[in-house]
Amino acid sequence: MIGKLNHIAIAVPDLVQAAAQYRDRLGVLVSAPQAFPEHGVTVVFIDTGNTKIELLEPLGETSPITKFLAANPDGGMHHMCFEVDDITAAAAQLAATGARVLGDGKPKTGAHGQPVLFVHPKDFLGTLIELEQRAGVERAGGTCG
Ligand code: CO
Repeated sequence: MIGKLNHIAIAVPDLVQAAAQYRDRLGVLVSAPQAFPEHGVTVVFIDTGNTKIELLEPLGETSPITKFLAANPDGGMHHMCFEVDDITAAAAQLAATGARVLGDGKPKTGAHGQPVLFVHPKDFLGTLIELEQRAGVERAGGTCG
């Protein structure tokens, strides 16, 4: 059902310091920080060639990663994101296995402008899973572009 690993998201308390660590210790190219107020995060993107790493720093009072960082003050892996061809079908398939889709169960537009949804970490070995509809694929019922 799932496609490529699109990204691994790491929540960090200090984005500038975290980006410098990836750049200086691992020698990877890091993007400039990008603010996503509607998602409550500022993000640095790192392209490793086969996938991406996204460093997330809380933005605003109601950031969805504030609680995670309170529990993990040094930072840590927040979620991983897999691509799917049909996010509505993927949500239905997951629900049928008893996995809880977060929120109202309907896909929302994610940071890459694609429909995304999240599956409860308690239903996935303690890891929050994001599913993102693959770019170039129409919503359910559409055709591949
Ligand atoms: Co993500």
